[in-house]
Amino acid sequence: MKKGRIFSGIQPTGHMHLGNYLGAIRHWADMQHDYEAIHGIMDLHAITVPQNPDDLRAATYETCAAIMAAGVDPAKAIIVAQSTVTAHSELAWILGCHTPLGWLNRMTQFKDKAGKDKEKAGLGLYGYPVLMAADILTYHGTHVPVGEDQKQHLELARDIAGAFNRACNQEFFPLPEPVIQGEATRVMSLRDGKKKMSKSDPSDYSRINLTDTADEIAQKFKKATSDSHPTITYDEENRPEVANLITIYAALSGKTSEQVVAEFDGQGFANFKKSLADLAVEKLSPITQRMRDYMADKSYLDSVLKSGAEKADAIAQPILRKTKELTGFWVK
Ligand code: AMP
Ligand code: TRP
Repeated sequence: MKKGRIFSGIQPTGHMHLGNYLGAIRHWADMQHDYEAIHGIMDLHAITVPQNPDDLRAATYETCAAIMAAGVDPAKAIIVAQSTVTAHSELAWILGCHTPLGWLNRMTQFKDKAGKDKEKAGLGLYGYPVLMAADILTYHGTHVPVGEDQKQHLELARDIAGAFNRACNQEFFPLPEPVIQGEATRVMSLRDGKKKMSKSDPSDYSRINLTDTADEIAQKFKKATSDSHPTITYDEENRPEVANLITIYAALSGKTSEQVVAEFDGQGFANFKKSLADLAVEKLSPITQRMRDYMADKSYLDSVLKSGAEKADAIAQPILRKTKELTGFWVK
């Protein structure tokens, strides 16, 4: 008996990084045994900012390869490219009609991404969280494993589900639960401990990509910003860069931050960074290797995405149809 149905996704907008892995994808691999699971490669979300078509296609393959390399088994969990299941877009329209602008205006990600000139931001970027609600609700998803940065979007998804349920006077959509777990729910940039590690940061030294070689990983940790304080202490407020490295070490080793601080107490920084690089290489290199193997077999990736599209569509269509009936549409 499964505990519920997971939906979660990742945008194909560049290389997957350590934050994606520790904050989200490794939990997908763990949860696939106890939950029914659907994982999306969110290409409709990706185009809310300009994308080069060839890069988008390449990143879609890479993301599919990385999800499997991190341990998600396509025989257990569904892996789907979002745009191949039209229910996502259709439901987003219906749900958008239940979403007051006041709710969208609170979204901090929109404020960050739109920048100073909000008039120039596209409707897609503004409606991004409505599409995200549709992604989850079109499968009646109950649990959503994500990093901390997506918490606000999930609260909105719950509000939107509630608004639809009230309008049709029945508990049609389950209210999805965010699952934000582990030591590293928010991995920060290696260059600036106040910014999250992100695919869109122009500095490649800000992140560890799942495609990085052992040498690149070692170099990046060596150059990671720290401070002149000689000891290792966990102080997120005053020493955010150091706290971030401790958190990464903890997440990769399965220890708590306190245990990591105790382990390296009295040792110099260079030594800690070297141990961190070794640990990261040990944990990530098998993933990188599997990813390369998958990437070399495009026809296999095509078959995974094709069968994912069929399986996902079979779940989404009946739920979309019922949503249309409840809305009052004539359905064929
Ligand atoms: P994205 O790369 O924005 O499509 O994010 C895909 C998943 O990775 C989402 O669940 C995010 O919350 C998670 N994620 C992205 N960046 C980080 C980060 N720096 N730390 C932890 N989780 C993250
Ligand atoms: N917005 C998420 C991110 O960038 C990706 C995403 C899109 C998602 N739809 C989703 C995550 C639905 C969970 C559930 O991280």
